Amino acid sequence: MPTHDLVVVANRLPVDAHTEPDGSVRWVTSPGGLVTAMESVMRGVDSGAWVGWAGSPGEAPEPFEADGMQLYPVDLSAEEVRAYYEGFSNGTLWPLYHDVIADPVFHRTWWDTYREVNERFATAAAQVASPGATVWVHDYQLQLVPTMIRTQRPDLRIGFFNHIPFPPFELFAQLPKRNQVLRGLLGADLVGFQRERDALNFLTCVRQLLGHAHSHHDITVPGIGSEPARTVTARAFPISIDTQAVSALAEDPEVIERARELRRELGDPKKVVVGVDRLDYTKGIRHRLKAWGELLNDGAIDPHDAILVQVATPSRERVDAYRQLRDEVELTVGRINGDFAPIGRPAISYMHRSFDRREMTALYRAADVVLVTALRDGMNLVAKEYVASRPDEQGVLVLSEFAGAADELRAAILVNPHDIDELKTAILHALAMPEDEQRTAMQSLRRQVLDNDVQGWAQSFLGELEAKGRPDEPAAAP
Ligand code: ADP
Ligand code: G6P
Repeated sequence: MPTHDLVVVANRLPVDAHTEPDGSVRWVTSPGGLVTAMESVMRGVDSGAWVGWAGSPGEAPEPFEADGMQLYPVDLSAEEVRAYYEGFSNGTLWPLYHDVIADPVFHRTWWDTYREVNERFATAAAQVASPGATVWVHDYQLQLVPTMIRTQRPDLRIGFFNHIPFPPFELFAQLPKRNQVLRGLLGADLVGFQRERDALNFLTCVRQLLGHAHSHHDITVPGIGSEPARTVTARAFPISIDTQAVSALAEDPEVIERARELRRELGDPKKVVVGVDRLDYTKGIRHRLKAWGELLNDGAIDPHDAILVQVATPSRERVDAYRQLRDEVELTVGRINGDFAPIGRPAISYMHRSFDRREMTALYRAADVVLVTALRDGMNLVAKEYVASRPDEQGVLVLSEFAGAADELRAAILVNPHDIDELKTAILHALAMPEDEQRTAMQSLRRQVLDNDVQGWAQSFLGELEAKGRPDEPAAAP
């Protein structure tokens, strides 16, 4: 079995296998911010490996190489997809970690499967890591993996990064099996979060529920039996985007031309307002549509002058809350278009599919305003992509205070998306903002995003992990 010095473990591989009607397999980029970020990090790594699921139930494809990286598919049966992925990961943890915007559901059988599947990912990673290698585990689907890997391979350095929020103690305490989850995470040497608040929530949970003391960000985890105590560090590493790659696309003359063409195709309105999200109830799409519908109804927006373009990537379509969301969003878009669209052109142009990076960048370049109205979001990369796509320093970002990105992107128009009146005022303010004001805000946003890219994020996480020393070495002097 080949071995690797850096092994990434995530629920999804960076590509999904799609089986065509003729039985052939087509590989497409997997959805979501985790893959967007980690794919560009791993492109710069020599002989890295990525352990993950190929996106369909049944037997996993053989390991294969893509973009100089070795991919190791892990198989999930249809039942495991139901209990581990749709169940415990996305029916229990996702809503609980996102402020219970939807009701978390819990079944004991889901937990059993979550444990079994986590063990499979841990074994797959342990088999391909070279002696003393670094294993970097990602996200809420795999919280038990760090300790499971440590048990199998005590020689490895183990990092864990949580891409989504970590909830306050009062919410986390509701999770059945909460202590097992914390013990799973504490198998890592370094546990990373998007925001300082997430790290503090985690530290509080560890202290309250397991009784482990911490000094600042360092937790002392007592050894079992004669084992020495370990120090686990938990702190914030705000994730970012591949700023250079996005900037290069944004400067590409074909992309700039495509942005002009998009505006023409939309009927050359005075203002193009854009939303780009996975179709997820955390993204505040319903709130955004309500605000837009009311602005049309109030006559504050003329549908001949302004159009809302909403791109919604299909997501977790067999989970009830997502099905319901899709029905509601599509009903609302239909109603608003029925009530307000001029002949031959929608008031809201809605697309329920994915587009490639070039098309997305052209859309960002065509957008006078981007609306990020998440009710809760770990980071939200769309906000950063928009900023990186505007070398012309024009455009306005309306950003929810409840997205991790709001900690950094202070020059956006920050909103509480639960307050529909406030959201409406923010949209009108964005639509009316003069060019010089747009430029000042965009310059400040761009400094933040250009100075903090995803490569810097990965270096800082891996650098800190490395500085902690190998498990079998004495810790480096501070
Ligand atoms: P999440 O990880 O919750 O989906 P993020 O905003 O952090 O949210 O990341 C979403 C990523 O998916 C971004 O890189 C964004 O450009 C991409 N994306 C979202 N919707 C689409 C779409 N319809 N087509 C292509 N890419 C999309
Ligand atoms: C978010 C999560 C990722 C997940 C992605 C797409 O970004 O943090 O872990 O992969 O959404 O969701 P999916 O369920 O399709 O993998």
